[in-house]
Amino acid sequence: MIKGKVVAITGASSGIGKATALHLAKQGAKIVLGARSEESLAALAEQITGEGGLAVYKSTDVRKRDSLEALVKKAREQYGRLDVLFSNAGRCPSVPWTILPWMIGNRWSM
Ligand SMILES: NC(=O)c1ccc[n+]([C@@H]2O[C@H](COP(=O)([O-])OP(=O)(O)OC[C@H]3O[C@@H](n4cnc5c(N)ncnc54)[C@H](OP(=O)(O)O)[C@@H]3O)[C@@H](O)[C@H]2O)c1
Repeated sequence: MIKGKVVAITGASSGIGKATALHLAKQGAKIVLGARSEESLAALAEQITGEGGLAVYKSTDVRKRDSLEALVKKAREQYGRLDVLFSNAGRCPSVPWTILPWMIGNRWSM
């Protein structure tokens, strides 16, 4: 099912995107990595290919339409098509641990 599928992942340089790329590459997907930090993408592509998988990368800023179009173009040029676009890029503001007692004491019934 996943083997041979061409999967582009935005936000692939860390976290969920990186883990997904590594996982799907092990299942035989052809991965196209996108994020802003080219150095991290290059290292991940090298890791994937070093483990016998297929991956290319394109520096991508999802806030810019032409940058996203270039990511899709990269998939088409490299693998002839794009099957899946995982639009994962984004920011997740962290919650300080100091807020937990307040949440447990005042907001949650434990
Ligand atoms: N972790 C959670 O608990 C959680 C919960 C709910 C939702 N989410 C969502 O899941 C997604 C991934 O979360 P994560 O925890 O894996 O985050 P993360 O480790 O901070 O990774 C975020 C990724 O997005 C990329 N990115 C950020 N802005 C970008 C932009 N303008 N263009 C292209 N790439 C961009 C970052 O790479 P560069 O900086 O190199 O561009 C990085 O690869 C996010 O959309 C987040 O909001 C996460």
